[in-house]
Amino acid sequence: MAERIDGRAVARSLDETTKSEVEAMVAGGMTRPGLTVILVGDDPASDVYVSHKVTACARVGIRSTEHRLPAETSEDELLGLIARLNASEHVHGILCQVPLPGHIDARKVLEAIDPAKDVDGFHPVNVGRLSTGTGGIWPCTPFGCIKLLQTVQPDLTGMDALVIGRSNIVGKPVAMMLTAQGCTVTLAHSKTRDLPGKARQADIIVAATGIPEMVKGDWVKPGAIVIDVGINRQPGENGKDRLVGDVAFAEVQHARAVTPVPGGVGPMTIAVLLANTVQAARAWQK
Ligand code: GUN
Repeated sequence: MAERIDGRAVARSLDETTKSEVEAMVAGGMTRPGLTVILVGDDPASDVYVSHKVTACARVGIRSTEHRLPAETSEDELLGLIARLNASEHVHGILCQVPLPGHIDARKVLEAIDPAKDVDGFHPVNVGRLSTGTGGIWPCTPFGCIKLLQTVQPDLTGMDALVIGRSNIVGKPVAMMLTAQGCTVTLAHSKTRDLPGKARQADIIVAATGIPEMVKGDWVKPGAIVIDVGINRQPGENGKDRLVGDVAFAEVQHARAVTPVPGGVGPMTIAVLLANTVQAARAWQK
């Protein structure tokens, strides 16, 4: 049986560390770390994500502020708000939930956030810092994948890793992080030839394709570690949806370890966001 990597437990433990760090900062006379979350429009999924982020802040002692703006908010108004938050000494992290309404250029907005406050790690300066190994703030979901991997295998040096999916938010950054950890990385995508063959060679597989149960049992080498970033809704029994990942979980029990869906990578994203906010607050107060 493969070890089931418990993302909820790892996230809880990271939250404990973050909470202690916040308490130590405040006890040492530093300003309490503060995160501002911006939501434009009324997309129900985004609404839930933002509420989860705000609740999580309270759990670890981070001060949070929400800006819920109407869908008709202009790009200039949003850029004006970000300029004010960039200048505020009480705000250490700024997160603008995406997707944004169609009339707003998301790239322009994300690039307007001060890179030192970009706790999503989406700003090109932070992407550049990750790719050159010069620090910066690392994006939450891919960093969460690395932390889960390291619970099974702390030293990743020399391992062969296959990343499936080349998105800017997961595939590309996780490939850079694995490279920084000493892995030999193949970054695969929909045009990759003989994906099952490449997967069978890998010590580590990170699946981030959005294709339900794409990675089959016979793609996975015995003893490999499998990280499943996918969250796909499938019609289940009794008319209820069930969540499945990008990996056929039941077929990969000959792996050394695998993340479940739900309860694997998912819970890590917010835990890393909180840790990033503390990192940003500490850097700002130095
Ligand atoms: N929308 C879905 N996930 C995310 C995220 O991690 N950050 C932001 N800003 N928007 C999102």
